[in-house]
Amino acid sequence: MTSFPEISISTERLVLRPYEESDIPAMVEMMNDESVIAWTSVPYPYTEADARSFIAEFAPAERAEGRGIVLAVTEFLTQRLVGTVHLQRTDWRIRSSEVGYMIAPWARGEGYAAEAVQATAQWLFDDQKFERLELRTAADNAASQQVAQKIGCISEGVLRGAGLVRIRPEGETDGRWEEIRTDLIVWSLLPEDLDGLAEESADGSDYAAYADWQ
Ligand SMILES: CC(C)(COP(=O)(O)OP(=O)(O)OC[C@H]1O[C@@H](n2cnc3c(N)ncnc32)[C@H](O)[C@@H]1OP(=O)(O)O)[C@@H](O)C(=O)NCCC(=O)NCCS
Repeated sequence: MTSFPEISISTERLVLRPYEESDIPAMVEMMNDESVIAWTSVPYPYTEADARSFIAEFAPAERAEGRGIVLAVTEFLTQRLVGTVHLQRTDWRIRSSEVGYMIAPWARGEGYAAEAVQATAQWLFDDQKFERLELRTAADNAASQQVAQKIGCISEGVLRGAGLVRIRPEGETDGRWEEIRTDLIVWSLLPEDLDGLAEESADGSDYAAYADWQ
């Protein structure tokens, strides 16, 4: 069976690497953020046990069983966890994968999501010889659409009623969330879409087998 290798990817400011047990506290904090709950399907409230099973079971299985790869996004200088990039629903025959991502609230607005996703795409195209990266954003998720646009993704259309997001019911103050259906915008990135961007970035990114990098 085909699967991605265990890797780390370094960019100018970030290191993307497999999750470790020591990431659990920072991960729990990140997952309980309002925007993460609203725009993703993570369990709510997100507990230490959720993080533990994600790191020990879900993430390794995603890679081992060929569905994708989960990478913890960390700041190179501080080594703090700032987010997650997740390649999923990989189609090895088509050489296409779908990317999901999140950045911790305190680290947003610094261009980290764009930097992490772009570096992952570069690795996927150059090293893994993939031909397509797909991205799906909820119709109202403006920040995520901005990320897609910034890295050069092309919007391909709308999947009507294809997603679920969570909102606070109007007038409710008890912290409850409600799931509502939403349209999804499909974006794609092909290797040629990155050509211009790669030349713009001064020193580009670098990747290594995780064991080598450690
Ligand atoms: C979407 C998300 C990953 C962006 O992370 P980030 O590191 O702040 O992203 P970047 O800094 O690379 O880019 C964000 C861009 O969105 C813009 N932005 C942020 N909030 C916005 C909003 N409400 N409306 C419009 N644009 C917005 C920022 O200004 C920035 O654009 P700029 O660089 O042109 O100024 C982060 O907000 C997040 O984790 N959200 C919750 C989870 C989520 O939505 N994941 C994606 C699911 S598809």
